[in-house]
Amino acid sequence: MLELGTIKTTIRETMDILTIPTHPFEGQKPGTSGLRKKVEIFKQPHYLENFVQSVFDTLPGHEGQTLVLGGDGRFYNREAIHIILRMAAANGFGRVLVGRGGLLSTPAASAIIRKYQAFGGLVLSASHNPGGPDGDFGIKYNIGNGGPAPERITEAIHARSREITEYKTLKFEEIPLDVCGTYNLMGTTVEVIDSVTDYAELMESLFDFEAIRTLLKSGFRMRFDAMHAITGPYATEIIERRLGAPTGTVMNGTPKPDFGGGHPDPNLTYARDLVKVMYGDDAPDFGAASDGDGDRNMILGRRFFVTPSDSLAVIAANAEHVPGYRGRVTGVARSMPTSAAADRVAAALGFESFETPTGWKFFGNLLDAGRITFCGEESFGSGSDHVREKDGLWAVLYWLNILAARGESVEDILRHHWQRFGRDYYTRHDYEEVDATVAKALYSDLKARLPALLGQRFGVRTVTLADDFAYTDPIDGSVSDGQGLRILFDDGARAVLRLSGTGTVGATLRVYVERYEADPARHDMNPQVALAELIDVVDALSQLKQRTGRTQPSVIT
Ligand code: G1P
Ligand code: ZN
Repeated sequence: MLELGTIKTTIRETMDILTIPTHPFEGQKPGTSGLRKKVEIFKQPHYLENFVQSVFDTLPGHEGQTLVLGGDGRFYNREAIHIILRMAAANGFGRVLVGRGGLLSTPAASAIIRKYQAFGGLVLSASHNPGGPDGDFGIKYNIGNGGPAPERITEAIHARSREITEYKTLKFEEIPLDVCGTYNLMGTTVEVIDSVTDYAELMESLFDFEAIRTLLKSGFRMRFDAMHAITGPYATEIIERRLGAPTGTVMNGTPKPDFGGGHPDPNLTYARDLVKVMYGDDAPDFGAASDGDGDRNMILGRRFFVTPSDSLAVIAANAEHVPGYRGRVTGVARSMPTSAAADRVAAALGFESFETPTGWKFFGNLLDAGRITFCGEESFGSGSDHVREKDGLWAVLYWLNILAARGESVEDILRHHWQRFGRDYYTRHDYEEVDATVAKALYSDLKARLPALLGQRFGVRTVTLADDFAYTDPIDGSVSDGQGLRILFDDGARAVLRLSGTGTVGATLRVYVERYEADPARHDMNPQVALAELIDVVDALSQLKQRTGRTQPSVIT
């Protein structure tokens, strides 16, 4: 049945397809980015199968088509890959492209879906959530443009999961995942492909690798922290091999199923190893990190942190230095809680800007329509129209390209940027694992108070708008409401409160505040100090600290 190395055209033997009776599981509702649950939930018999069958059932016309499959290598990745391969074959996919070892970073999966014009892809990841037997697992479906399925599809998947009665699979078959090659799984061609090459080639087509090589030879020093996660092999190939950075530039570069016991989220709290180097004596010029599945990034200079909102603005403002983007920027989009820094660049340079709800799926239509070239979120995500996911390593290479072209330090690039466009002081405070009932009540109470806030004065500011953010997609007219509470003030300052859609334990409350400062003489404040007053306003209005019993946030970014 299993042919190594060659494609054998067999007629699918229906007797080898098993139809397994099942019953629906509660809560198979994809969140901000796919279905994420504890590993032990995913490991329940039929749990993953139900979800995968629900996806396939909502995809008319998938028979004979190509599916891309890969994951971030976290605990349970390999077992899940085998389960899905058997189900894809039993459900009549013509071809499955699977990353070697079952591994693909999220942006690489997006790139491969696009390059091979696949029907769609299944990406196994819980992103930056911890892994291991007690950690999280996740799965999401990406459509043919390479991006996360839009809400219309995720809602259909959820609806299907609530009425599922059976799924299709094969009798036990296992493809050797660690060797590239083409195999025949009951009439479905399975190609185990190198996980890195296509992606590395795409990066090489966008950036000035020659200029970056010269920079790296000139005494400029950098470190990249892969956080024991999926970007290790990608970063080693691109930064060390293709760009010539010294061996050891990539730290924590071997992916581990439990991410070395860490929390693979590139921020100042969790990327400890990198932060130690970048804030230590003799710190390198540039530091960067990526998350569990490779779509997030953090950018650091020597003892200098670049907020993701500023990073997006700098990316948008410097396209003329980057070969893949020079002279062709149409617009930029940011998620609602992301600071307005990118909007200012767009206004000054004459391209469009958009404000979308949280989550990458809302950028897809704008990218497909060519209305935006760049997009980003405050949550350490940035990307462009080269794929339909955020892309950690892409952002790092983009920064390297800017650094090479401008010949300035990271800090100087930011200072000059603020001088030109003004500075948007920004911070986000997360309260993680809060009791879900408390969090929901707090949220709905504040929501109920919003209409009465209009025109109210808080210190020096007056509220000009207070609502629950709703978005009408400019391309297809679809409306997404309930996307976060926002309070806008007359001086451009803003406070936002959201409930996380990716957490798996209790509820996570996120508070985002920002204010604009045009005067370069006032660009040197500590953001926590500059924003303290706004943080206090949110606390006073929501009673957050008192109601959650927390004296301080779990994470500040
Ligand atoms: C978080 C981020 C959001 C991002 C998502 C997936 O979602 O806030 O910007 O798109 O992770 O990486 P949240 O937990 O806030 O719903
Ligand atoms: Zn991620």
